[in-house]
Amino acid sequence: MQMPTIEDIVSQPPVKDPYRHNGEALPVADTGDDRPGLRRFYIESYGCQMNFSDSEIVASILTGAGFGPTRNMEEADLVLVNTCSIREKAEQTIRNRLTAFRHLKRERPGMLIGVLGCMAERLKSKLLEEEKLVDMVVGPDAYRTLPQLVEEAGDGHKAVNVLLSRDETYSDISPVRLDSNGVTAFVSIMRGCNNMCAFCVVPFTRGRERSRDAASIVSECRDLFDRGFREVTLLGQNVDSYCHVDEQTGQTVTFADLLGMTAEVSPLLRIRFSTSHPKDITDDVLHTMAAHGNICRYIHLPLQAGSTRVLQLMNRTYTREWYLAKVRRIREVMPDCGISSDIIAGFCTETEDDHQDTLDVMRQSRYDFSYMFMYSERPGTLAARRYADDVPQDVKKRRLEEIVALQNTLSLESNRQDVGRVFRVLIEGNSRRSEQQWMGRNSQNKVIVFPKSDMPGMGPGDYVDVKVTDCTQATLMGVAAKHTPA
Ligand code: 5AD
Ligand code: SF4
Repeated sequence: MQMPTIEDIVSQPPVKDPYRHNGEALPVADTGDDRPGLRRFYIESYGCQMNFSDSEIVASILTGAGFGPTRNMEEADLVLVNTCSIREKAEQTIRNRLTAFRHLKRERPGMLIGVLGCMAERLKSKLLEEEKLVDMVVGPDAYRTLPQLVEEAGDGHKAVNVLLSRDETYSDISPVRLDSNGVTAFVSIMRGCNNMCAFCVVPFTRGRERSRDAASIVSECRDLFDRGFREVTLLGQNVDSYCHVDEQTGQTVTFADLLGMTAEVSPLLRIRFSTSHPKDITDDVLHTMAAHGNICRYIHLPLQAGSTRVLQLMNRTYTREWYLAKVRRIREVMPDCGISSDIIAGFCTETEDDHQDTLDVMRQSRYDFSYMFMYSERPGTLAARRYADDVPQDVKKRRLEEIVALQNTLSLESNRQDVGRVFRVLIEGNSRRSEQQWMGRNSQNKVIVFPKSDMPGMGPGDYVDVKVTDCTQATLMGVAAKHTPA
């Protein structure tokens, strides 16, 4: 039997999602465990979505060990910071935070402070021994040992586990959704990274790449759907190299296969993914996207730099022409696909001409949005060992400003083209500005806000059709559409 598409099920005027419970998400275990005498953990997360997803695994492990989550740091017995090392500034922000926690501990000596994630891995026991900032240091592959480490730290011992693993994927752990809107969730499909991008600390902090077994990913998606979630984002450092061989059947599941499998969970479950590597994204993936209305028309395709010479130094293994051909191919297969990028300004040896090449690729790719950074040298990376960080700070800053200004123009141009169009939007919650307005996203990952009064009875988790009437560079504004999208 042919699966119905979202378009078949949700027609104009909007109908209630038949599988959702009164349009409300079922309660999720994000806080609220108030068993008396329970020891409480408080967790703060920094960095990428993968880190936020890891915090949900940590929450699950701790809940299983008799802890309960709290949003209030003041009542926590255990304060955890899931850290990021990607740029020096991120590490500095987190250090300041750890120092603040240290002060809090003076008033509450029984409280334990733990550093998790990438900084734990990078700095190992330095934070524990030299700086005496924390009581526990736990790397990204060692979360199963957390309950044991908490006991050791509680007994006044040094508690460190920063061992990286070749096979840990936490596949059997069902994450506790923290701060959830009950509509969208992240599902981790792999860990680590085997690309040795010269600027990047991730292969050192998160170890070798490994893929989680497909059946556990699909069953996590199904469970989320049954609990009222309507969108999952499949997460990995390089999702296109996902590859899992089933031990029993010997069958290989590629990323394209996995996308198809998750899309089949329900036509009402939207699938997103992040991050793609331009060298690895295949036609198979594009065709699988095109074949499923519920796989979102959006690809995050980090460019990093637009000059082939700089790309080579970065060890990105593609040229500017290869990148531009990928963008063309995506648009050929899915003309309405949104594309975004990551861009680094001022990598080692970057000249004015190289910088112009970056601006040029941005213009040709017409990104809907980008994440843009100044190059920050990270100890231990290929670039730190091989090249001088020789672009002066003021030059990096000026180039970044030019990149940001161009992206602002491109984003506005892209949004203006959407004015007058109708999009199917998944409502996520109130708009940040006004409780009278809903906020949601279209398939292309653009944020759309629109009046609640237009859509009586609709709420978070429902799909509605919205006609865009106006925009800023960051947001589309709309009203209920009178017709279904073409
Ligand atoms: N300096 C600046 N930006 C970096 N990124 C990764 N490492 C660095 C670094 N050392 C950026 C890349 C990557 C994104 C997650 O962060 O653009 O895609
Ligand atoms: Fe930061 Fe990278 Fe670690 Fe994510 S994987 S937390 S971006 S250093």
